[in-house]
Amino acid sequence: MSKLYEPVTFGEIELKNRIVMAPMTRSRSTDAAVPTPEMVDYYAQRSSAGLIIAEGTSPSADGLGYCRTPGIYSPEQIAAWRAVTDAVHEGSGRIVLQLMHCGRVATRDNKPANTETVGPSAIRAEVKLFTDTVGMAATDMPRALTRDEVYGVIEEFRQAAINAREAGFDGVELHGTSGYLPMQFMSENANDRTDEFGGSLENRVRFTVLALKGMAEAIGPGRIGFRFCPGNAFNDIVDSQPEATLRALLNGIKPLGLAYLHIMKAHVPGVDAFAIAREQFNGGLILNDGFDRDSAMEAVASGAADAVSFARHFIANPNLVERFQTDRELAQFDRNTLYSGGAKGYSDYPV
Ligand SMILES: Cc1cc2nc3c(=O)[nH]c(=O)nc-3n(C[C@H](O)[C@H](O)[C@H](O)COP(=O)(O)O)c2cc1C
Repeated sequence: MSKLYEPVTFGEIELKNRIVMAPMTRSRSTDAAVPTPEMVDYYAQRSSAGLIIAEGTSPSADGLGYCRTPGIYSPEQIAAWRAVTDAVHEGSGRIVLQLMHCGRVATRDNKPANTETVGPSAIRAEVKLFTDTVGMAATDMPRALTRDEVYGVIEEFRQAAINAREAGFDGVELHGTSGYLPMQFMSENANDRTDEFGGSLENRVRFTVLALKGMAEAIGPGRIGFRFCPGNAFNDIVDSQPEATLRALLNGIKPLGLAYLHIMKAHVPGVDAFAIAREQFNGGLILNDGFDRDSAMEAVASGAADAVSFARHFIANPNLVERFQTDRELAQFDRNTLYSGGAKGYSDYPV
C-alpha cells in the first residue's frame, strides 16, 4: 500500500491519510459573510481527506474583498462554521480554516457598509474583481495602515484563531501568498513603509511572522499552518528576490514550531521551493500545485513531502481518496459554477 494512505501527525492534528484538500474560495456564503447549509454538505462530503483546509476566510469585515466569501469575526459566523466542523468530524475528518485578509485586493462593491480597504501603503492593486452588483470592478485605493493599526490587524488574526477553535476547527492556516495582505507587506510594489514593517527583507516579513506568532500563542503552535508560494505574482505582486524572501520567512517562523508548512511550486527559474522548505522547516510539509495520484505517491514515498494537497481534483470528486485507492477515472468539474452560488456544481457532484 502506498504511504499516501498512511496516517501522519502535524503538531496536534492527526491526519488519517496524506491526501489534503487545498483551500478553495467557492463564494457560497451569504452577503453577510456567513457560511451556508450547502457548505456543510460540501465539506462533509469530502471528509475522507486526511485534512480539509477550508477556503480563505476573513478575520475582519475590512479583510473581505470578494463576493460571498466567509468571515470568522461574528458570533453568527462562528455558529455557522460549527455546523461545518461538526459534520466533518462526524465523518472522522479533520478540518482547519484558512485565514485570508484581502488587504488592497478588494472593492467596496464586495464589502459591507462601514468597512474600509486597507493595505501596507496607499498603492492600488492593478487588478479587477468580480462583483454581484456591477460586474468586474477596479480595486479600491487602499488607505495605508498606521503603525498601531498594523498591530491591530495582527490582533485580528490572533482573535480569528481563537474564534476558529470555538467554531470547532482543528487549527488554522495563514494564507501568505496570492497577493493578499501578508504578501502585500512582503512585496516591493505594495509596501513603501519606512517603519519596522517596510524596507529591509526582515522588516517586510515581520507582519507575517508576528501574525503567526500571535495565532500560535493563542491556540498553540501545533494547530497552526502557513501557506506560501515564492515569487507568486498573482494579484499584482512584485518580488524580485523570491528565494531570499522564502528563506527570511522560514528563518522568522522557525522558532514558532508550527504544525505544518503548505508550500506551492515556485514558478521561478532556479528556485526549488520544495527542497528549500524541506531543508529549513522541521514541521509537517504539504506540497501543492498540479499533483496527480502518481506524482503525489512519489513525493511522499521519496520523503520530499509528508502530504500532498489537491484543489481542482476535489471539486468534482468528493471521495477523491477512494477514487485514488481504487484507481478510478476522475470526474471533470464545471468551470461555470465555480463561484456561482448555490448547490449546483458545488455540493451536487456524485460520490
Ligand atoms: C476555485 C479555486 C479557488 C481557490 N481558492 C483558494 C483560496 O481561497 N486560498 C488559497 O490559498 N488557494 C486557493 N486556490 C488555489 C488552490 O488551493 C491550489 O493551490 C491550486 O488550485 C493548485 O492546486 P491543484 O493543482 O491541486 O488544483 C484556489 C483554486 C481554485 C481552483
